[in-house]
Amino acid sequence: MDSILVTGNGPLNGQIPIAGAKNACLTLMPATLLSEEPLTLTNAPRLSDIKTMTALLQSLGAEVSSLQEGQVLAMSSHDLTSHTADYEIVRKMRASNLVLGPMLARLGQAVVSLPGGCAIGARPMDLHIEGLEALGAEIELKDGYLHAKAPGGLKGAVHEMRFASVGATENIVMAATLARGTTVLKNAAREPEIVDLVECLRKMGAQISGEGSPVIEIQGVDHLHGATHQVVTDRIELGTYMLAPAICGGEVELLGGQMRLVESFAAKLDAAGISVMETDKGLKVARKNGRVTAVDVVTEPFPGFPTDLQAQMMALMCTAEGVSVLEERIFENRFMHAPELVRMGANIEVHGGTATVTGVDRLKGAPVMATDLRASVSLILAGLAAEGETTVNRVYHLDRGYEHVVRKLESVGAKIERIKGQ
Ligand code: UD1
Repeated sequence: MDSILVTGNGPLNGQIPIAGAKNACLTLMPATLLSEEPLTLTNAPRLSDIKTMTALLQSLGAEVSSLQEGQVLAMSSHDLTSHTADYEIVRKMRASNLVLGPMLARLGQAVVSLPGGCAIGARPMDLHIEGLEALGAEIELKDGYLHAKAPGGLKGAVHEMRFASVGATENIVMAATLARGTTVLKNAAREPEIVDLVECLRKMGAQISGEGSPVIEIQGVDHLHGATHQVVTDRIELGTYMLAPAICGGEVELLGGQMRLVESFAAKLDAAGISVMETDKGLKVARKNGRVTAVDVVTEPFPGFPTDLQAQMMALMCTAEGVSVLEERIFENRFMHAPELVRMGANIEVHGGTATVTGVDRLKGAPVMATDLRASVSLILAGLAAEGETTVNRVYHLDRGYEHVVRKLESVGAKIERIKGQ
């Protein structure tokens, strides 16, 4: 298995291009199932999660071609041959459940394996099920699979979600595009990836309003047509690389970065002593002066501080001046990076959903283990600022969400290399 070797060195300077959003692409791809006509996505990120979704769509009979070195995905769901999302694919990636809503809407039936537990918590599907049932679906759990059907078609309804789940919002919105009548989804998630999905669905002929607010209204239509859509910038990759100059010093411009995607995160960085400036090409990040100061963080649904940047923010707080408290409110069990950071000399205490980090002068390189996608990149960030060498093992997690991480960090002066495993 490959590992990444990072050697702590000085400030980082230069530019890093930010890719299209993994999480947007993973919901835009299943949207192809809603139409017989082709859907083309541009600015797609080159990631293993995208390959997993490609395999899933192909297993349903969709055609998916990856063009221009993977940055363009040309899809067609003219002839679907299956309505079953198999456990072997779903278990690799929870986002596979995003085929449920579109298949149900287009085919009137869908069988989707439950994703099972995952490293960062239980992650059930009750909110998806409740929403689709409100639209008239009948859903049963048999042998680990959700069997969903809507024999007479889906019908629009008013539905309020108990929690603003990102995936449930996406599944319900996609299903409602082809339902009869109007759906009003209350307490909907407001993430930019949902706005991006709605913009794409609208290009396909869907009638939707209110995206980005807690109430989304969908007027069902008879069918959707083909479209071409550019995937929105990845705000989590953006935020991750914004932390590189924050942790190491120097000045890095994140090409394609937009403030509207990272407002609450940039506000926290500002409070910690890091300036984030908009430029005509993206966002430029540098320390204001000297050492970073500790700030407290609470993860929340958008527009709050994203859970997907909590691990990386913790890496910054490890060497900040003072004590910071990081509270994780979206996922239980999302502090698995903390003991690894402690191995590098960090002072962190975890109690339930709260981590208290007391800043130390310097971290020390160590062999560490990546436990999930965001945890792995937080260890790389910590390694960039540590004294000596850090080896991050189990980097396959990284390939799920960060394209060319070595090349991107190397281009701003980091000492980082991928070591091929046997
Ligand atoms: C998406 C993102 C993920 C991000 C998360 C929160 C994708 C592919 N993934 O995941 O990177 O960390 O949003 O911003 O877009 N929950 C339930 N019942 C449900 C659904 C969710 O209890 O039916 C709970 C989950 O266990 C979790 C919380 O709600 O504790 C948030 O989950 P959700 O917003 O659904 O996240 P995902 O869509 O899985």
